[in-house]
Amino acid sequence: MKVLAILGSPRRQGNTETLLDSLIEGAREQGGEVEKLVLCDYNISPCIECGSCSTTGECAIADDMQDLYPKLLMVDVIVIASPIFFYSVTAITKAFIDRSQALWARKYLLHQKPLTEKIRRGYFLSLGATKGKQLFEGATLTIKYFFDAIDAKYRGGLFFRGIEDKGDIKHHPSALREALELGRKICQTIDDR
Ligand SMILES: Cc1cc2nc3c(=O)[nH]c(=O)nc-3n(C[C@H](O)[C@H](O)[C@H](O)COP(=O)(O)O)c2cc1C
Repeated sequence: MKVLAILGSPRRQGNTETLLDSLIEGAREQGGEVEKLVLCDYNISPCIECGSCSTTGECAIADDMQDLYPKLLMVDVIVIASPIFFYSVTAITKAFIDRSQALWARKYLLHQKPLTEKIRRGYFLSLGATKGKQLFEGATLTIKYFFDAIDAKYRGGLFFRGIEDKGDIKHHPSALREALELGRKICQTIDDR
């Protein structure tokens, strides 16, 4: 089982990375082949809506995203982890998602077949400082449409409120255990459609 674990937080060793690392630990325990992608380590420009991908299916911007498209398409499971910033995902996560417009264009404009017939799965990990009922609604909608564009089925995720200072997630009564268990489950499941 190939898993791409994407860190969308710009704060290294912060709450989101700690949570994602637990999931990765669980997935590796079960024999999952996990690649961790730290978005902030890459140069990913925002989409400029040049329209090029609408006819070619390829993004015209020559930056690190060109190395990430194949990674996105070759794995069985994609986990994306982002804290909530202004009720959405972080800017680097959004830039990465917007650049998947090229994959959206391949699917919906050019009607290209997916590279694999496998059911690929997508999960979302998120957390935020406040406790509002709708805290994750905006970001989750974005993530659902992202997974649709890259031909992955959204399978849910983990969401934690009241997490703000670096290290807060370690004091949550169940978060890291839940992430570890989700990581294990992801790699035990062959096809959970
Ligand atoms: C620019 C910015 C915007 C934020 N917006 C929200 C928000 O809308 N709602 C919320 O509950 N927390 C918000 N937060 C708090 C973060 O989600 C919280 O501190 C989180 O624990 C950060 O995760 P990290 O340690 O992985 O960076 C914001 C933080 C920053 C820096």
